[in-house]
Amino acid sequence: MEIQRKLKVLITGGAGFIGSNLCEHFLSKGYSVICLDNFATGHRHNLAACVQNENFRLIEGDIRNLDDCRNAVEGVDYVLHQAALGSVPRSIKDPITTNDVNVSGFLNMLTASSDAKVKRFVYAASSSTYGDSEGLPKVEDVIGKPLSPYAITKYVNELYAEIFSRTYGIETIGLRYFNVFGRKQDPNGAYAAVIPKFVMQLMNLESPIINGDGNYSRDFTYIDNVIQMNELAITATNKSAVNTVYNTAFGDRNTLNNLINYLKKYLSKYDSRIADVLIEYGPNRMGDIPHSLASIEKAKLLLEYNPKFSLEQGLQEAIDWYWVNLKK
Ligand SMILES: NC(=O)c1ccc[n+]([C@@H]2O[C@H](COP(=O)([O-])OP(=O)(O)OC[C@H]3O[C@@H](n4cnc5c(N)ncnc54)[C@H](O)[C@@H]3O)[C@@H](O)[C@H]2O)c1
Repeated sequence: MEIQRKLKVLITGGAGFIGSNLCEHFLSKGYSVICLDNFATGHRHNLAACVQNENFRLIEGDIRNLDDCRNAVEGVDYVLHQAALGSVPRSIKDPITTNDVNVSGFLNMLTASSDAKVKRFVYAASSSTYGDSEGLPKVEDVIGKPLSPYAITKYVNELYAEIFSRTYGIETIGLRYFNVFGRKQDPNGAYAAVIPKFVMQLMNLESPIINGDGNYSRDFTYIDNVIQMNELAITATNKSAVNTVYNTAFGDRNTLNNLINYLKKYLSKYDSRIADVLIEYGPNRMGDIPHSLASIEKAKLLLEYNPKFSLEQGLQEAIDWYWVNLKK
């Protein structure tokens, strides 16, 4: 009797927020999972559950090193490429390192994957690719000019993926993530994302500072919707669904002021004093786009995407997690 080999998925950036959630998910689905990470912004504690699993392998390495990439893709069926340096302000402060990791590192991973004949290369693209295009909702084939070095790197990823599909025949899918949030997102550091940062500040009864007047809006996307998209991107058998990019979002937008109100509402169930914490307002941040809202019609049509978590539903789960795991 033939023994069926487990499908092997390589998750780069697997020690980070999104990557570690993907590692746990694909292990739970019976895949063999390899994580390639250099711990630049990821954490070992994110992998605490994974390292107990015999189907998990951690490779400490750097995507800027082509040999590390070739080593990691050996015998792999699918790549979920998440490794990158996130954050628009980080890229404005240090465009060279952001470009090295996000462009050269991406090209290394794509080359290694193509040479190793992986079945599909799915990668984290970004809503920042919409740049200064003002139309809402954002549809995949209408983009503007990038507004930051980070946005350039993510757009270049899409261009390389398309050329590699056409030139070398590797199947690629880019997932343009829109403001992802949820368990394990890092609340610390200068480049922390807004939701975990505000949650930590409110938990500590400190005033969060909103950049601008709070009326900028975002399509905040819960991690479980992102996991669903990654799984659909791997498993899609419809050939017209590959070699393209998809918005990965819930398909609704909320202002920063709405967000703060939800956070205060759900957190004050744990500590009623949080309802009275004052909010401060500062200047707008360079490179930020005023409004962001995804059309998710393409993913619904071609991948049968069906996001289960709105901002409010996701926040309730995320806040429960933060309270248990991070409250000092
Ligand atoms: N979080 C979001 O809202 C969002 C939005 C759009 C796109 N993205 C993209 O999604 C991906 C994951 O983001 P995240 O929020 O989980 O960030 P994260 O910082 O938590 O994870 C990134 C991971 O990549 C690793 N990494 C960085 N440089 C590396 C290198 N040179 N070699 C190997 N590993 C390296 C880090 O150590 C970290 O574990 C990134 O590509 C990011 O650009 C995220």
